Amino acid sequence: MTDKLDAAVARAREMLADAPRLAVLTGSGISAESGIQTFRGGGGLWKGTPIEDFATPDGFDRDPVGVWNWYAQRRAELDAARPNAAHEALARLQRDVLGRGGTFTLATQNIDGLHQAAGSTDAIELHGSMRSVRCRDCEHRREMPVEPVAAVPTCPRCGAAMRPDVVWFGEALPEAAYLPAVEAVAECSVLLAVGTSATVYPAAGLIEWAIGSGGKVIELNLEPTPATRMAAVALHGKAGELLPRLA
Ligand code: OAD
Repeated sequence: MTDKLDAAVARAREMLADAPRLAVLTGSGISAESGIQTFRGGGGLWKGTPIEDFATPDGFDRDPVGVWNWYAQRRAELDAARPNAAHEALARLQRDVLGRGGTFTLATQNIDGLHQAAGSTDAIELHGSMRSVRCRDCEHRREMPVEPVAAVPTCPRCGAAMRPDVVWFGEALPEAAYLPAVEAVAECSVLLAVGTSATVYPAAGLIEWAIGSGGKVIELNLEPTPATRMAAVALHGKAGELLPRLA
């Protein structure tokens, strides 16, 4: 641990202790230590195809079974995944902040449900959830099965195709998730951004929104990102090691 990192941790602790309104934005880096590959890790490829090419409505139209089974495989991996020390630290932080009468909003880009498993409540899932599927037409939802399929299941209510209950590239974020997240960052005194490359909009824009509204940003990420230069404090290291020191 370097003196510089120690000093940054101390500064971030002070900011968090004083913050009456805390917002947190997480990305796939927070789940890396739970064994879940980050989106851009492994070159951002799946069987040689960039994820951005198939995790889209067009990608699903082209190869519905392939896309479905990619999510089914990741969903199956989730059964072995446990929340790590970083997820647990955020759940603790939420309890502390609410306990002292502050406000706390956690918005995640992750679709793995590990924040909820660690005890975080009211987490906003900006990009949906890998644990469910929904009808393309009537929005009927059910649990995502883990077994691969030979044909994409149809909706038991209306007969249309089911699809993973996630936000694909090129799709709008669900308003019910995005609007409260914007409200929280616009009103926050501190935004803590953890394990996100801060490159995928509109979620990454929440960081700029917080700053534009007078909030201060603490970034915690393995490496520098476009958010680093905007951050009041940037901590570079593993979330599972550094977050417990903050909370
Ligand atoms: P990315 O894969 O883009 O970024 C993950 C970040 O976490 C990287 O900057 C890593 O350096 C960092 N990281 C990795 N391991 C870490 C660790 N142990 N501790 C701290 N940081 C670590 O993932 P996201 O920013 O979440 O969207 O990507 C955003 C969105 O792009 C995803 O939600 C997904 C995606 O493609 C959709 O599917 C719509």
